Amino acid sequence: MFMKNQRLRLYRVFSILVIAAFAIQPLSAAWRDPVRGKNAMVASQHELASRIGVEVMKKGGNAVDAAIAVGLALAVVYPEAGNLGGGGFMLIRLNDGTTTSIDYREMAPAKATRDVFVDEKGNLIRGEGSSTIGYRASGVPGTPAGMEYAFKKYGSGKVKWSELVEPARRLASDGYVLSYRLANLFKAYQGNLSRYEDSKRIFLNDGKFYEEGDLFKQPDLAGTLARIEKDGAKGFYEGKTAELIADDMKRNNGLITLEDLKNYKVKERVPIRGTYRGHEIISMPPPSSGGIVLIQVLNILENYDVTKMGWASAEKYHVLTEALRRAFADRAEFMGDPDFANVPAERLASKEYANGRMKTIDSKKASASSEIGHGAPIGNESMDTTHYTVVDKDGNVVTNTYTINDLYGSAVTAKGTGVLLNDEMDDFAARPGKANMFGLIQGENNSVQPGKRPLSSMTPTIVLRKDGSVWFALGARGGPRIITAVLQSTINMIDHKMNIQEAIDAPRIHHQWFPDHIYFEPFGLTPDTRNILEKMGHKFNDSPGNLASATGIAIEEKTGVRLGAIDSRSDGEAVGY
Ligand code: GLY
Repeated sequence: MFMKNQRLRLYRVFSILVIAAFAIQPLSAAWRDPVRGKNAMVASQHELASRIGVEVMKKGGNAVDAAIAVGLALAVVYPEAGNLGGGGFMLIRLNDGTTTSIDYREMAPAKATRDVFVDEKGNLIRGEGSSTIGYRASGVPGTPAGMEYAFKKYGSGKVKWSELVEPARRLASDGYVLSYRLANLFKAYQGNLSRYEDSKRIFLNDGKFYEEGDLFKQPDLAGTLARIEKDGAKGFYEGKTAELIADDMKRNNGLITLEDLKNYKVKERVPIRGTYRGHEIISMPPPSSGGIVLIQVLNILENYDVTKMGWASAEKYHVLTEALRRAFADRAEFMGDPDFANVPAERLASKEYANGRMKTIDSKKASASSEIGHGAPIGNESMDTTHYTVVDKDGNVVTNTYTINDLYGSAVTAKGTGVLLNDEMDDFAARPGKANMFGLIQGENNSVQPGKRPLSSMTPTIVLRKDGSVWFALGARGGPRIITAVLQSTINMIDHKMNIQEAIDAPRIHHQWFPDHIYFEPFGLTPDTRNILEKMGHKFNDSPGNLASATGIAIEEKTGVRLGAIDSRSDGEAVGY
């Protein structure tokens, strides 16, 4: 009897130990595995938008169709960055290897000249009339045109345009339940949103505010989406929507006219390509700086054994910082809209150029940014953008970043349209060659000119396996930190053999030439690592904070399963089937 009881006790202890071991032993170091989908996957910053994308693919649509529906839905459910009134970049790789990028970045209105944001004394205009808030801050939106272009040229032809717009229209018209996060975010931005009648009425419940759990309806936006559903992009750039935007602009001393809207042009561009340890890297060319900076830094790092240096080692962070310092110096000097400025993209992304830059790196000592390059520092780029990625059952991939720049853009909702307008004019150099309101200087290549696109950091990227098949696709939100988030996630995958969720979640650093210090994350850097780097001459910013937020999908090599990942730094949901 005693033996039996003892055996029973031992068995129980053993069982508990086994269960505990599994409970505390994560399947991976990130504790959270990527979301798995046998056929297809959407990873976006809102679950409703991701689900809409999946439904489109279940109906026979391809990744491009789904990406359009996701983009339009995010304009409704993720109003701080999802948009109709902004612009962005869509990078596409079809399963036959065709790779292209759609540039639907905003264009400066015809009235926007070089000194439009400078007063008669040569000082930067602040507040109303500036590049950051109000009616003059907006470039001509590109999103509706970009989505239509993608649909016509790269859609499957198996779903109708109206089927891609209708889910977003319905969400705007019937409403959706506000999350705690969004209800509070509206309140947090009441300072700016309450300045503009329609923004106050729509997002602040006319000053009475919304609470978590309220049903949030946007009838004006539903009306705009209905016109887009019926007439395509013309439903935005011409007719009632265009008239509402242009009239509101005119009444409020804005820059955008009916002609500007009618003249908006999407540009299809050849993606920028590089390689890293035998993997092809495909990314966004100018007017984004993202692809070039990404490839330039990878080209420099390829000269080092990053795997051996170890993840987050001082040795690795030293070379990473030095490479970033040089690439961001070049960004400021050379980059801008390639249709207006001579951007030496191929040269900057070449191995030869990177090797030359690498030779100026001292392995033991930090360089001073003031001694690197002749360019000028970048301005105060906003942190607020959104990225999503879609992979369909046939292996077509879309990775899309779009933005209205600041959270809630210029804070202006064009009267009667429900459309929040961007403040993308702030991505131009408002005073080339002179300090902006943050004490920083920017280059002439990114000066304001009518019809020009402002320089961006958005970095939608696709990485191939050595056999040429797609390995993963990703992008991020976070201004210039987008580039370092995509870069470090890529290194984490290739050099540190992390899965896509681990790669995106792992702590990061950031350096952008000026200010000359390393940004780091809470609990992202050990005191002894920092100590070693400081001894080498590196400086750190005062307080740690989250650095960007990435979203991506990988394709499992043996099974083809789609693996979706949303950054633990922000909200969103990967949905697969
Ligand atoms: N507005 C942020 C970017 O385009 O990089």
